[in-house]
Amino acid sequence: MSAVKTAVFPVAGFGTRFLPATKAMPKVLFPIVDRPLIQHAVDEAAACGIENFVFVTGRGNSAIEDYFDVSFELESMLRAGGNSHIAASLERLRPGPGQVAYVRQIDPLGLGHAVWCARNTIGDEPFAVLLADELILSDTPDLATMIELHADLGGNLVLVDEVAADETDQYGIITPGRDVNGAIEVTDIIEKPELGTAPSNLALIGRYILDPTIMTTLETTATGRGGEIQLTDALLASIGALPFHAVRTTGRRFDCGSKVGFVAATMHAALDRDDMREDVQRMINELYKHQIPDTGHQIPEG
Ligand code: G1P
Repeated sequence: MSAVKTAVFPVAGFGTRFLPATKAMPKVLFPIVDRPLIQHAVDEAAACGIENFVFVTGRGNSAIEDYFDVSFELESMLRAGGNSHIAASLERLRPGPGQVAYVRQIDPLGLGHAVWCARNTIGDEPFAVLLADELILSDTPDLATMIELHADLGGNLVLVDEVAADETDQYGIITPGRDVNGAIEVTDIIEKPELGTAPSNLALIGRYILDPTIMTTLETTATGRGGEIQLTDALLASIGALPFHAVRTTGRRFDCGSKVGFVAATMHAALDRDDMREDVQRMINELYKHQIPDTGHQIPEG
């Protein structure tokens, strides 16, 4: 049985990089083909034994609450129209009654502040944080491995991926220490270092298992990078007081916070589906021929 039962989903961001689309629609509701990013994150957490889902929302996020609620008219209409199976599939996608809590961030003061806003729902147990704009696809979610490792290691645990040297300024970056039971000890961490100054290319990619004392640490965490209260800074402040480790992802990661990452995720998902693969592949080849006629390159078949 997993000791981590609660996951926090900070979803209040403005999604500035995706304006104007995010003006009236939260970024985490963007679909990867037909499944919103937040559904992927919730499914991932549920597959790892998470039972309590805490969404930290902000103004303009009420569509997220609607999304995880019953759509009475729609579902009755589906049932009346002989589409009970679709209605049933919608029902299966939502956490059960009492499993979802919404906390309002009120002021968008950063990721650390968003997590801190969930403090009264956490109690004294370790908890997970999932950033839904990092889509990680794998047969066994990395989060499951992290929860297992955390039972031995305790403290704080983060998921990392290798990123290109010219991308290190977009992520929290760790300084790796020695290997411990399949994890890497973290000796230092910095939020979005200036290019050329990163201590490694191991970047935080939006999956955390946190000790509940992080909430007290966040209370006194000063404003950091970008004028925001950073979760990374609270993790840094916990070094020495608590074990701190990182695990490398074994999944396929798409940073859907970036437009290219979002498009790549969508294309990957479409090409992964039996009902779409052939048509999408044909379409990509056509587009490719028209857009880049002189290169002679083709998207490989199959
Ligand atoms: C946040 C975190 C950063 C992490 C990143 C992963 O940054 O602050 O440490 O590497 O998510 O996507 P954001 O992208 O929200 O600015």
